[in-house]
Formats: sequence, C-alpha cells, structure tokens
Amino acid sequence: MRFKSVAIDGPAGAGKSTLARQLAQRLGYLYVDTGAIYRTVALAALRAGVDPADPAQVVPLLGGLDIQMGYGDDGVQRMYLAGEDVSGAIREHRISGAASKVSAIPEVRAFLLDYQRGLTDSHSIVMDGRDIGTVVLPGADVKVFLTAAPEARARRRLLELEQRGQEADFETILQDIRERDRQDETRPVAPLRQAEDAMLLDTTQLNLEQSLEGLLSLVKEKIAL
Ligand code: DC
Repeated sequence: MRFKSVAIDGPAGAGKSTLARQLAQRLGYLYVDTGAIYRTVALAALRAGVDPADPAQVVPLLGGLDIQMGYGDDGVQRMYLAGEDVSGAIREHRISGAASKVSAIPEVRAFLLDYQRGLTDSHSIVMDGRDIGTVVLPGADVKVFLTAAPEARARRRLLELEQRGQEADFETILQDIRERDRQDETRPVAPLRQAEDAMLLDTTQLNLEQSLEGLLSLVKEKIAL
C-alpha cells in the first residue's frame, strides 16, 4: 500500500494547524505540524544564547541537536528537546519570531528536510507548514494553500489570546502578522508561496466548520475516500 499525503501551506494564523489536525482525524491520517519542529530549533537556539537570525551561530548547533517528535495518549503531537517535553514552551510569543528567523537559514531547512520526508514512508499524513507542497512533498496527493486576509487572522488570534485570559491588542497582533508574512514570503530559500498545483482555500469569510467542509471537499477531489 502506498501512503497518502496531504500538504497544507499558508501564512501564520490562517487556521492551518486546527484545520489540518481535524482533517487528519477525519481521514485517520497522522497530523504533522512542521512549524513545531522549527519552533523547537528556535527554542534550542535561544537556550544556547545564540542569535536565531545569525547562521554563523545557529548552524554549529545543528549537529548536536536532539529533537524528537511524538504523540501523546490524546493523539496530539508533542515535541521533545534533549528528552524534555517542550510542547508548551515552543508556543511562547518570543519563539514565533525566532522560529521565523531560524527557518530562513538554508542549513536549518536542509537539516529538517529528510526527517519530514521520511515520515511519509510509514504513515498516511496531513502535513502543514510553509513549503510542504513546494519543497518537502512536491508529489503530495493533495495540496492546499490555506489563507485569509491579515485582518481576519489578527481577529482570530486576538480572540484566542483573550479566551486564554491574556492581554492583547489588535494593532500589535496585526503588525506582528504582517511582519511574519513578510519574513516568510521574502526569504530566499523555500519562501511561503502557493505551489502551482495547489488548490486555494481562502477562509476570510468562513468559520471553522465551513473551512473544514471546504477542505474536505478539496481532498475528495483528489483522494477517493
Ligand atoms: O506555523 P508556525 O507559526 O508554528 O511556524 C513557525 C515558523 O516556522 C514560521 O514563521 C515559519 C517557519 N516554518 C517554515 O519556514 N516552514 C515550515 N514548513 C513550517 C514553519
């Protein structure tokens, strides 16, 4: 049996991880959040006291990195750094910017490429990130580019933070989203862009349920379920 793969790319805050996780559940596939892997590299860089934007400081760390991915009893992906569960730590705000910076370093991308590709050898997967359809899995059975207007993404993020009881300001979040878009879209290596054969899903006007239905119908166009 050949394993199936669904590649979902798009900018920060488009709902990729929530939707990709739910899609994987519906399909019975493994969900792989590749942003979490970059975040773990960023955390390692910050803990080592190095500048995440400086290749000369980050690249020498790569050989010694002990990064593992696993799944909890609840089926949720967890990240381990030198055996420590860092799944919560990598969600801190400072890690978002640092992950965007380390992910622009070609050696970091090359270091993670084989690992990400290897996951399709043993599982059918839904993988989300920025370059899954373009670089990591160019032969994916389904490719979706999931996006939404920056303002819609900022509104969702604000709501999420407020629900967690955290103080947040719409303009700051919007600025942050625009800056990350700019970093991810303009980096020379594997920039965020829609693969030519990817199907576009714009969720600006859709709620979560409608987005999931939209995603499922795109998948059904390509995979017999
Ligand atoms: O999806 P996220 O916010 O957890 O991703 C964190 C950063 O990692 C993001 O700014 C871009 C980078 N990233 C990437 O370059 N390639 C991927 N496949 C996934 C994430």
